[in-house]
Amino acid sequence: MATVCKHLIAVLVLLGVCVGGARYTPDWDSLDTRPLPLWYDGTKVGVFIHWGVFSVPAFRSEWFWWDWQGAKYNDCIEFMKANYPPGFTYPDFGPKFTASRFDANKWAEVLDKSGAGYVVLTSKHHEGYTMWPSAHSWNWNAMDVGPHRDLVGELANAVRNKTAMFFGLYHSLFEWFNPLYLGDKANKFHTQNFVREKTLPELYEIVNRYKPDIIWSDGDWEAPDSYWNSTQFLAWLYNDSPVKDTVLTNDRWGSGDMCKHGGYFTCSDRYNPGVLQKHKWENAMTLDQKSWGYRRDTDLSDVLTIQELIATLAETVSCGGNLLVNIGPTSDGTIPPVFEERLLQMGQWLGVNADAIYDSKPWHYQNDTHTPGVWYTAKKISMVTIVYAFTQKLPESGYLYLGAPIPGDPSFCQVTLQGTVYTFPWTTGPQGGMNITVSNVTNATPYSWGWVFSLYGLKNQ
Ligand SMILES: *[C@@H]1O[C@H](CO)[C@@H](O)[C@H](O)[C@H]1NC(C)=O
Ligand SMILES: *[C@@H]1O[C@H](CO)[C@@H](O)[C@H](O)[C@H]1NC(C)=O
Ligand SMILES: *[C@@H]1O[C@H](CO)[C@@H](O)[C@H](O)[C@H]1NC(C)=O
Ligand SMILES: *[C@@H]1O[C@H](CO)[C@@H](O)[C@H](O)[C@H]1NC(C)=O
Ligand SMILES: *[C@@H]1O[C@H](CO)[C@@H](O)[C@H](O)[C@H]1NC(C)=O
Repeated sequence: MATVCKHLIAVLVLLGVCVGGARYTPDWDSLDTRPLPLWYDGTKVGVFIHWGVFSVPAFRSEWFWWDWQGAKYNDCIEFMKANYPPGFTYPDFGPKFTASRFDANKWAEVLDKSGAGYVVLTSKHHEGYTMWPSAHSWNWNAMDVGPHRDLVGELANAVRNKTAMFFGLYHSLFEWFNPLYLGDKANKFHTQNFVREKTLPELYEIVNRYKPDIIWSDGDWEAPDSYWNSTQFLAWLYNDSPVKDTVLTNDRWGSGDMCKHGGYFTCSDRYNPGVLQKHKWENAMTLDQKSWGYRRDTDLSDVLTIQELIATLAETVSCGGNLLVNIGPTSDGTIPPVFEERLLQMGQWLGVNADAIYDSKPWHYQNDTHTPGVWYTAKKISMVTIVYAFTQKLPESGYLYLGAPIPGDPSFCQVTLQGTVYTFPWTTGPQGGMNITVSNVTNATPYSWGWVFSLYGLKNQ
């Protein structure tokens, strides 16, 4: 008996070493082998929030400080002259960042109704102001200056209390005008004073305190990851942090890393390659096409229509990406109605077309071979694969011809429309494909922002 026990223990110890004992080493060869937590791919849609002191001047974009005092753009200099007294500095905007109307529970409701599965908030942008009471950002954080509240903590609690969404944090590695950073930069990044005093302590602080599901890193491009000690941080994040099993990161961890290393790839702002990607990726894009932060100079024509947003969503998901839709709240903590409306419309549309988006996979074809603007996803349900065809346009002829699907036995091959109970007649085209009668589609659906046909019983499912 005792020997059996001993053997059993030996086997269990071995199993433990094999299953739980693998640790990541601080290099990309090791870190890049970590599988992405499964929740991410299934959710497909997130909401990005750019909010900070830059929301106070709210002019040009969240890069205002740089545009005014770094690039010295004339429109920014004129804007300051016209609206603020001489000698007014960027830090003087801090006390004006009041967040006085910010209600985290109300935001959580809007975010939830968008149909998105996760939220990413700017915990600190390139201006260096931390949206939480950081011990490493003296007198330049949301508790000491401005709202006198923990904005990250309030939103994290509300999102987790009120919704099933995952909660992520954006964090900028560099800060435009931080003297420690500028000192390291002057030393050609051979010193790491800024990383030691600021970047790393902040990253450990937000992970330990808020247990984010995503660390959306940015502001990496001026220095290599060896300056940022990114691989050391990620090894801790994946091995020992309180979120080691659930957290995801992106690819912005040092110059040259983007689109090559890290968690999912973002590659560039508004990345939308139009072809299937080998590695999981995210299209981080903005509803206001010209800015991430709120700005007072937004024209209605700068804001994506719901049709444009849905077209981008379809294209992104077809090619294996997630869509991260950005909004910029005002400095007093309200979500501008045009962004709120767009999020709610997206949620209404996703409610009708949920099957074609959530937990879907890319199909053999991403877009149609014949009709432009038709994008595909697929979903396997036991033995059957349903193929979903997204289109923004219904041809005036009343016939939608799809070149990619090969219809199977007509007694099983069926075309239905998401959100309706109707089936739509089809015939095989002269070169194969499916010629679907869509003349009466608009009578059937509640929203005319984009339609999704489900194709059952294809030969090439
Ligand atoms: C969320 O729940 C936590 C603990 O259950 C509570 O302390 C906190 O006040 C709640 N936050 C919000 C914003 O409702
Ligand atoms: C970065 O990592 C190296 C190697 O582990 C270490 O020697 C150095 O002290 C670290 N720098 C900081 C700022 O933590
Ligand atoms: C499919 O998408 C690719 C990439 O955007 C594009 O080059 C191609 O023309 C599209 N095909 C059709 C038929 O529109
Ligand atoms: C689709 O069917 C209609 C009606 O029979 C026909 O007029 C049209 O030419 C067909 N389109 C294609 C591409 O076969
Ligand atoms: C469209 O017409 C076809 C027959 O022509 C019919 O089977 C289908 O139910 C109709 N759909 C709607 C939404 O009226």
